[in-house]
Amino acid sequence: MGLSDFETVVLGNGEVSVRDRRTGEIMHPGLGPRREAELLYVEQTKLAGRLEAPEPTPLRVLDVGLGAANNALAVIECARRVKGRALHLTSLEQDDGPLRLVLSEPSRFPAQAAHRELLETLLDRRRVEAPGLRWTWLEGDALQALPRLDGPQDVICFDPFSPEANPGLWSVDALARFRRVLVPGGILSTYSTSTRTRVTLLLAGFWVGAGAAAAVKKETTVASDGPAVLDVPLGARWLQRWRRSSARSPHGVAVLTPELEQAVLAHPQFATGGGSPC
Ligand SMILES: C[S@@+](CC[C@H](N)C(=O)[O-])C[C@H]1O[C@@H](n2cnc3c(N)ncnc32)[C@H](O)[C@@H]1O
Repeated sequence: MGLSDFETVVLGNGEVSVRDRRTGEIMHPGLGPRREAELLYVEQTKLAGRLEAPEPTPLRVLDVGLGAANNALAVIECARRVKGRALHLTSLEQDDGPLRLVLSEPSRFPAQAAHRELLETLLDRRRVEAPGLRWTWLEGDALQALPRLDGPQDVICFDPFSPEANPGLWSVDALARFRRVLVPGGILSTYSTSTRTRVTLLLAGFWVGAGAAAAVKKETTVASDGPAVLDVPLGARWLQRWRRSSARSPHGVAVLTPELEQAVLAHPQFATGGGSPC
């Protein structure tokens, strides 16, 4: 695919991960790949419960930024433990470099080495079919790929690089496009906890909640189409902090306009009785 410039890096806690040399960004820098994938994209999305639900349809999970496949493999391993609904996993990625890198160093990346056959099939054919699993890689730019999804998604594992390194995927317009492919009651989980990310998600039409704590971050972020699946929806206290914040505008917008400010304040999440005190 010809874009790659990735290298292996050892994190402070001894875990091995991947760094993009062009931006200096490291994948899963906080807890390391295994724990972060499990916490943010399996536990926080309540994936096991969704797989156990007595539904005749497959559970659709959208993996935004396949990278070295840590999140995708954590999702697949959860589905194999639960043995419930079939899993239709779609990964979006424009660069096969991270995956090729981790497969070339099996002793440093045992999680990927344990699924070598699966990952090599995905690299070769962009599609894996196994009992209970259909895994598709839609190659190229993530936004361009969205119209090719096989249907609305139950879970979105939103793991691009940071808004600074990856601005195209963090704008209001981009996140609104992800919002449109989410089923009612679906959930998007992401590591970013910044005020700007949360404002962007609100303006993109999501309801937004605090997620679990990951490493140095006090919490992470989850978003949905309403309050039902959010354990800790942002409420009056967050809105107060946002009013005082020096970073009130969404990603990609330098200064908050009165229209955008009004749109945040009028979000149903903050209507009287609608929000939590958090
Ligand atoms: C933080 S890494 C993902 C780590 C991965 N989820 C894992 O579990 O190993 C972000 C990934 O997003 C990809 N990416 C960035 N912008 C993209 C875009 N516009 N379309 C598709 N992929 C993109 C990068 O190539 C990179 O592999």
